[in-house]
Amino acid sequence: MHIKYLNEDCERISKTCDLEFGKELLILKDDTNLLSRNPQLNKSGFGRFTVQDISTFNRLEKTMTLLIKERMELYQNVSDDFQLNQYHKHLVNQEDHFKISTWALDYKLLGSVYDEIKEQVEEILGVKLRIKRINHMGTEGDYVGFRVLRPQKNDHNPFHRDAWIPYWRDTVNIWLPICGFEDGNSLQFIPESHIWPDNKVLKTSAGVEISGKKYHVPAAVGTTNDFTIVTPALQKGDGMIFSPYLIHGNGVNRQDDTTRVSVEFRFCKD
Ligand SMILES: [Fe+2]
Repeated sequence: MHIKYLNEDCERISKTCDLEFGKELLILKDDTNLLSRNPQLNKSGFGRFTVQDISTFNRLEKTMTLLIKERMELYQNVSDDFQLNQYHKHLVNQEDHFKISTWALDYKLLGSVYDEIKEQVEEILGVKLRIKRINHMGTEGDYVGFRVLRPQKNDHNPFHRDAWIPYWRDTVNIWLPICGFEDGNSLQFIPESHIWPDNKVLKTSAGVEISGKKYHVPAAVGTTNDFTIVTPALQKGDGMIFSPYLIHGNGVNRQDDTTRVSVEFRFCKD
């Protein structure tokens, strides 16, 4: 059986971690597949959308700037002219960075922006949605996720399927970058991998540790299938919709001097 590694990083991970093919017959079921009513998304497992009203995007950017600035101010002074894409210049301490970028935000903090994005995604998918309630660090909540990726740092996730964590299996993932996504500095996607049986995917047996950072989810490193990797070139207000079964990740921040911040809505059927 010939295994093709997804990229050089995956080949490197494969030399230091215990690996296995997926054991579970992990195939998305019709009753949890939120892409099924949109033929294009359903076929490729992912697609791009553009926030209908640019003012929604601008308010999201403003809110995230304020929220992240507030969190930074727990540890240090931040000047009034703080720009989100310059986060890495203000914050030098690795531990503080991990405390600030904890992934979870109460969705209510986004105000009407949350409803506007949810309604647009409902229209695209033809299904009523709500945020998937989860327990994050011991507290149950309706969280929107956010990620802060400093340039030249290991803040990204390796390739994976969200569905390897069972509670994401009935969701759809909406990834919306708000700064630092220019010049193709995006998440990567493997088209149609959402319908690959798990026994075609070589993965780490547990979450990996890369340069001192521990990931919850196992990393996909290779496959016996043929594949291509897509890195979408996004404009301001563009985001990605994708199946939790789709292999995605490796969104390294390749910029030299720009922090990338993105927001993530994990919706399930209402
Ligand atoms: Fe993911």
